[in-house]
Order: sequence, then structure tokens, then C-alpha cells
Amino acid sequence: MKLLHLDTSALGDHSVSRQLTSAIVARWQAGLDGLEVEYRDLDRDPIPHLSGRTLAGSDELERARSEATMQQFLDADAIVLGAPMYNFGIPSTLKAWIDRVAVNGRTFRYTANGPEGLAGGKRVVIVASAGGQHGGQPTDFVEPYLRQVFGFLGITDIEVVRADGIGMSPEHREAAIAQALGSLPEPLRDAA
Ligand SMILES: Cc1cc2nc3c(=O)[nH]c(=O)nc-3n(C[C@H](O)[C@H](O)[C@H](O)COP(=O)(O)O)c2cc1C
Repeated sequence: MKLLHLDTSALGDHSVSRQLTSAIVARWQAGLDGLEVEYRDLDRDPIPHLSGRTLAGSDELERARSEATMQQFLDADAIVLGAPMYNFGIPSTLKAWIDRVAVNGRTFRYTANGPEGLAGGKRVVIVASAGGQHGGQPTDFVEPYLRQVFGFLGITDIEVVRADGIGMSPEHREAAIAQALGSLPEPLRDAA
């Protein structure tokens, strides 16, 4: 079974989402023998923004990198994704990754009856961290957006671990981390 662990926070060791994605992955690794984990740090190794050159496929190196990103996504049975809120939305590094994996004809397609997701059967856990309190509010363009993107690709097993109020005070930060750590997603099980 393959797990893709994605971090996107630019705050390195101070990142709450990194702390929480690590805790989830460690828990899942401990509970499932033979779990293959691929780690990708989109802050340290960002994917270039999608461009006309990308779509034209004229740059061989970029085409190969794009395909590797797509294959890594397709191969994953589960994804644990750190998604800090930046200016009410996701980090641009994460958007650049989404632009490589949401591809017509590969992970979704349009039919006479509307769009159809082609990348179902995965479990996705999103760790959504934010400086303020945004969960369930109209100011949150992270959780609804990511649910829409993964849902559009056909993924129905989506869980969100929230850590809100990180910037409000040290006490808020500690409480949000403790609450998230206390309600980590159920261990991963091998469907086979
Ligand atoms: C560039 C940048 C933009 C941010 N924008 C917002 C924002 O719009 N709303 C908010 O509540 N917090 C915002 N924050 C605070 C982060 O969401 C908060 O620090 C959160 O803990 C980030 O997750 P991390 O700890 O995993 O890096 C921003 C932080 C940065 C660095």
C-alpha cells in the first residue's frame, strides 16, 4: 500500500501542519506493516507554475517531471496533505501541484452527463492550519476548495483535521495542536 505525504508550509520546523501530518503518517506507519511512504516537500522542492510551455509539452524535462508528479498521485492509495491557509486560500506551491494532477482525460473527464472523476479509491486526509478561526466560515477558501478538487477527481474518502487560531495566542496554538492530536484519523487499513 502506498501513502503520499505532502507538506507545503513555508514555516519549516515552526509549522503546525507539518507537525500534524508527521503525527498522522507515523501513526499509520506504526499500524500497517509494509506501508510505503513517499514524502514530498512542495516548499523545499516546488513545482514550477503551469505555463503555456507546460501545456504545449515542448520542454522535455518539464514534461517528464509533470508525468512523474501525476504518476505519484495516481499510484497513491492514501494522501496526507498539509494545507496551511495563506491569504485565505492554499499556498501557491500546492496550487502548482494540483495543476499537474488535475488533468482532463487522466484524473477527470467531461461526459454528456457532466464531469466524471477518474482518480477515486484513495483516502485523503487534509491538515488545514490557520492563524485565525476559519473552520466553517465564509472566509475559509482552503477546506471547501480542497474538498471540491479531490471530489472532482472522484475521491470520496476525504477527512479534514483542523488546527485553527494558531496565530491568536500561544495558548490557542497549544490548544489547537492538542485537539488535533487528540482526534487523528483512524489508522490506515489495507483493503487487500
Ligand atoms: C504568507 C502567509 C499568509 C497567511 N495568511 C493567513 C490568512 O489569510 N488567514 C489566517 O488565518 N492565517 C494566515 N496565515 C497564518 C497561517 O495560516 C498560520 O501561521 C498557520 O499556522 C500556517 O500553517 P503552518 O503552521 O503549518 O505553517 C498566513 C501565514 C503566512 C505565512
